[in-house]
Amino acid sequence: MQSFDCRNIVFVYMPTTSSNTSPVITALSYTISRVFLINLMITVFVLVIVMVIVAPQAEAARAFFVFGDSLVDSGNNNYLATTARADYPPYGIDFPTHTPTGRFSNGLNLPDVISESIGIAAPLPYLSPELTGQKLLTGANFASAGVGILNDTGLQFLNILRIHRQLELFGEYQERLSGIIGQGPAQELVSEALVLMTLGGNDFVNNYFLTPFAPRRRQYTLPQYCSYLIYEYRKFLLRLYGLGARRVIVTGIGQLGCVPAELALAGSVKGECAGEPQQAKAIYNPLLVQMLQELNTNVLGSNIFIASNAFDMNMDIINDPKRFGFKTSKVACCGQGPYNGLGTCNSFSFLCANRNTHVFWDAFHPSERAVRLIVKQMMTGSTKYMIPMNLSTIMALDST
Ligand SMILES: *[C@@H]1O[C@H](CO)[C@@H](O)[C@H](O)[C@H]1NC(C)=O
Ligand SMILES: *[C@@H]1O[C@H](CO)[C@@H](O)[C@H](O)[C@H]1NC(C)=O
Repeated sequence: MQSFDCRNIVFVYMPTTSSNTSPVITALSYTISRVFLINLMITVFVLVIVMVIVAPQAEAARAFFVFGDSLVDSGNNNYLATTARADYPPYGIDFPTHTPTGRFSNGLNLPDVISESIGIAAPLPYLSPELTGQKLLTGANFASAGVGILNDTGLQFLNILRIHRQLELFGEYQERLSGIIGQGPAQELVSEALVLMTLGGNDFVNNYFLTPFAPRRRQYTLPQYCSYLIYEYRKFLLRLYGLGARRVIVTGIGQLGCVPAELALAGSVKGECAGEPQQAKAIYNPLLVQMLQELNTNVLGSNIFIASNAFDMNMDIINDPKRFGFKTSKVACCGQGPYNGLGTCNSFSFLCANRNTHVFWDAFHPSERAVRLIVKQMMTGSTKYMIPMNLSTIMALDST
């Protein structure tokens, strides 16, 4: 944010400086060519100052690291032998290039819109061959569609980057970065970076709720399972801290029972949300917030972890989509079957004409327009959505 402000100010003032100066010089009755020359010198001088001011700040743009599942995967799964992928039409139909990229969205996804909001470039997928050299300095996205907190989540998707693997790759990334800018600066870049963690939804929809006979369901009651997930997540977050992360936004899970896939699965008649997944959300999210607060106060002693209930704002949209300019919060834009909630979104699916009128793009994932509302809450929302503070407060705090 800050580097953007400075740049604007400098560029806005530049022409003003030279035009303010020229009447003064003219009044001193110099020849026209000398006025021109002096103006030129002033312009060059100002330009040099601008370059000196802007260059180091552009370099110091905050790095951004992303871990998690399909809500934040920007294309890692394109490089893997998995069925969890979004690298075919109509995914990406509203992306700037209008082509599929592996994002589970009609357009931009959560990390894209966060990057846009804080004025940085969205980090590339870690597996992308383009992520080399200086580009490593802007961060990396390690997320992989289908993963969960548990290793046995998303087994049906075969080869995906399970969350512990994402962390290993983060270690590998840091070695590569050290090779470019040195170990000290690399550590500094990581500790000053923003980190986004979006995980947990698949541990329910692609594990516990997958079938009535899922092993985890036979092993645990729902409250027990939630506690177990939180226990494992806590261990993981401490490992992430151990690898140098110092500002980590951890999102809770969304309205699992209200996604078109669950409406279809539960045989919802009038669009009422499926009970059990909603219950899971109601148990899991408060436990997550509590665990993050406990880590911050009792273990780490500062606000390393920021809990985000931003997906909860979905509920406002889901209950009253028209207030937010949507036509439906029940039917996916792309899909088939009841609520367009069965199977995958692909080129044979029904596709809505205007993605901006749908809260859900496919059976599980919000449309870009819904993502923008979620990010707005992350940026400026109250402590109901961002605990203990929102992203604009974080950005202001960390830039001082
Ligand atoms: C998951 O696998 C990783 C290694 O890939 C291991 O370190 C971790 O303990 C496992 N988690 C559980 C809950 O078994
Ligand atoms: C969130 O951000 C807005 C706008 O920057 C700010 O006015 C507000 O006080 C913040 N709220 C909290 C609870 O941090």
